[in-house]
Amino acid sequence: MTTALITGATAGIGAEFARQFAAQGHDLVLVARDASRLAEAAAALQHEFGVRVEALPADLLDPEGLDSVAARLLERRRPIDLLVNNAGYGIRGELHENTVEQEKRHLDIHVSVPLRLTQAALGGMLDRGSGRIVLISSVAAFTPRGTYAAAKAWGVTFARGANLAYRDRGVSVTAVCPGFVRTEFHERMEVSTAGIPVFLWLDAPRVVRLAIRGIERGRSVVIPTLRYRVIAGLARVLPDRVAAAGGFRSRGGD
Ligand SMILES: NC(=O)c1ccc[n+]([C@@H]2O[C@H](COP(=O)([O-])OP(=O)(O)OC[C@H]3O[C@@H](n4cnc5c(N)ncnc54)[C@H](OP(=O)(O)O)[C@@H]3O)[C@@H](O)[C@H]2O)c1
Repeated sequence: MTTALITGATAGIGAEFARQFAAQGHDLVLVARDASRLAEAAAALQHEFGVRVEALPADLLDPEGLDSVAARLLERRRPIDLLVNNAGYGIRGELHENTVEQEKRHLDIHVSVPLRLTQAALGGMLDRGSGRIVLISSVAAFTPRGTYAAAKAWGVTFARGANLAYRDRGVSVTAVCPGFVRTEFHERMEVSTAGIPVFLWLDAPRVVRLAIRGIERGRSVVIPTLRYRVIAGLARVLPDRVAAAGGFRSRGGD
């Protein structure tokens, strides 16, 4: 029996990872801030799939919350075999418009938090010679689009290096780079999605199905769907001005 720990597991992409891993028979540890929503999600998955689901309420931007999740990952007697660093949000506005604190918290949720949790999970996984670590990045990582894109690019570069370093020792590290996915992301960010063409929207179940296929193959980077692989490829070769504008018109969005 294997156990997966998923951050941001009550909504959107994280909730879908929880559902698909439960359907595969994995036990789960679910992390999010809203404790009652988390308890409800855990009970529902346990009831539907008959797996063990542990709710671990924590704010990953609070040092004590982050410590508690890292401590769970370090527990050798109840090993975590799969870690999905998914919790995250977008930041509105440009750097010069935001406060230092807003930008720092945003950078932390996408960089410092997954770095800390990955390091906590890694030791036990290497000792056991098996494990999978996932970072939910974004196709924005390939575009010159503000501090969100820059923070997401960290996940891609990190996964490429870490997968190279650890895959031969049984631990794969994968960055998943979705395009626009229908979740609570844009609503929480309070941005309009009106300018996003319909054909660019993806559903979380499909994104996660494709992500899991790449994760199981030990890929370092997975860009779900052909259309977004083409977009990511073009963004890397087109001039920055064109890459920043094309198809990415929700201000500050993916
Ligand atoms: N949706 C997209 O278009 C899209 C595209 C590419 C990449 N992504 C990335 O995918 C990931 C998941 O996004 P989503 O679209 O699924 O978002 P979502 O629907 O808004 O879900 C976010 C989840 O993260 C949790 N969370 C947020 N802040 C947290 C914190 N400080 N500590 C612990 N948990 C926290 C939320 O629960 P609580 O509020 O209860 O904590 C919720 O479970 C993010 O990293 C995002 O950048 C999204």
